[in-house]
Amino acid sequence: MSIMSIIGFSYVVSATLFILGLKLLGSPATARKGNALSAIGMLIAVVVTLLDQGIVDFRYIAIAITVGGLIGLWAARSVAMTSMPEMVALLNGFGGVASLLVGWAAITPDASNLVLITIFLSILIGGVTFTGSIVAYGKLSEKLVGRAIMFKGQAIVNSLVIAAILIAAGLFVHDPLKTDYLYLAIGLSVVLGVLVVIPIGGADMPVVISLLNSYSGLAACAAGFAINNNLLIVAGALVGASGIILTQIMCRAMNRSLSNVLFSGFSAVKTMNMKIEGEVKPITPDDAYYMLEAASTIAIIPGYGMAVAQAQHAVKELQELLEANGAEVVYGVHPVAGRMPGHMNVLLAEADVSYDLLLEMADINPRMASVDVAIVIGANDVVNPAAREMEGSPIYGMPVINVDQARTVFVLKRSMASGFAGIDNPLFFKENTRMIFGDAKETLSHLIREFSN
Ligand code: TAP
Repeated sequence: MSIMSIIGFSYVVSATLFILGLKLLGSPATARKGNALSAIGMLIAVVVTLLDQGIVDFRYIAIAITVGGLIGLWAARSVAMTSMPEMVALLNGFGGVASLLVGWAAITPDASNLVLITIFLSILIGGVTFTGSIVAYGKLSEKLVGRAIMFKGQAIVNSLVIAAILIAAGLFVHDPLKTDYLYLAIGLSVVLGVLVVIPIGGADMPVVISLLNSYSGLAACAAGFAINNNLLIVAGALVGASGIILTQIMCRAMNRSLSNVLFSGFSAVKTMNMKIEGEVKPITPDDAYYMLEAASTIAIIPGYGMAVAQAQHAVKELQELLEANGAEVVYGVHPVAGRMPGHMNVLLAEADVSYDLLLEMADINPRMASVDVAIVIGANDVVNPAAREMEGSPIYGMPVINVDQARTVFVLKRSMASGFAGIDNPLFFKENTRMIFGDAKETLSHLIREFSN
């Protein structure tokens, strides 16, 4: 077997492992295995590419892998679960800038027009992904203002920048020796990355992260064409396609179109002038205990606050006590609860909550009217009935978990503060809602003590 066919065969093995890995990532029960298979695929790809002699000096690659690996290991171990979206945003940005650099390095004066176009695409998409992801990171980590930033003539400015990039691209492809056009296009694409992400804010940020993830895949795919590397094309296409599918799932979960997310400026308009009727009724965990003891169907709806309080183990313990008391307990998991796709599933899996008990929004909502007590644990936006009731609210039309339709709702949170989207929640003022103020883990521990006595 020639070295070329060994390389080709290994790339097919890697690509197959990537596809299998993605498939297994589709279910919490097989996700770890999927992750491991994809990692093995990537290891094979890296080793084979290194063995494919003459790409770059081996020593530089070894140094880069060691330094990069150590930084990655440190980051993966130290990042808090709640900061995962910021981490993903940064990783997308690195993917983008890597494709930009690969494309740039692949430029040769004798490259064909087709190759020059793919080089240009990897630079353009990579540049937009890079700065777009850095802005998204800044917004998510609250280093930058999180709301949508809109200004007059924004669409015209964006269109002019895109037009200028396309003209620079045409001139560069026509004469690759005119590098000024290339530098102009690189500069404009990084500016465009900032311009397209600043008008997006609030609860739309998760959609942007997965869209940028998709862009980073497309940039890698274009870079794969530019340097004629089949595996990079396949891996980039997989990331691009899975990112766009996730983007679509999230848009559907929020009942928004992608263009609406990208151009409408979530939370640029405040909803504070909307009048919410009713009165807040706080109760103590002791009072809550008596109602829970008498309940026979209970739905637990976790949200970002459960992650902050690290209350997943306490939730599981309470679930077992409630079941031992004769109640039927299920969980309602909203697709954008928390701060990353699958956030709640990961935490509940860590606490060994059975997957069978986790119901998706479409399955729990029809049952909600027969639930005695819905326990909302650190969730806010994903249970906000304004999405159904308040036309004009930025989340109007977004499907939410209809906890307000349960007989009684307990909301465990520390204050009356709003959630990620920064909007008020009429749930807290409803007749059947009882607020249990305090850290979710402490409140749950209190309830557990009551049940254990
Ligand atoms: P949020 O609407 O963000 O509400 C979380 C609530 O948890 C807050 O109101 C907060 O109230 C409470 N909380 C925080 N720390 C707590 C603690 N230690 N104990 C008890 N409560 C605590 O969460 P959600 O309902 O899960 O909705 C998610 C939001 O994030 C959506 O708007 C979504 O679009 C957005 N988002 C989602 C993702 C993904 S992909 N899941 C990514 C980025 C953004 P207090 O401060 O009063 O305690």
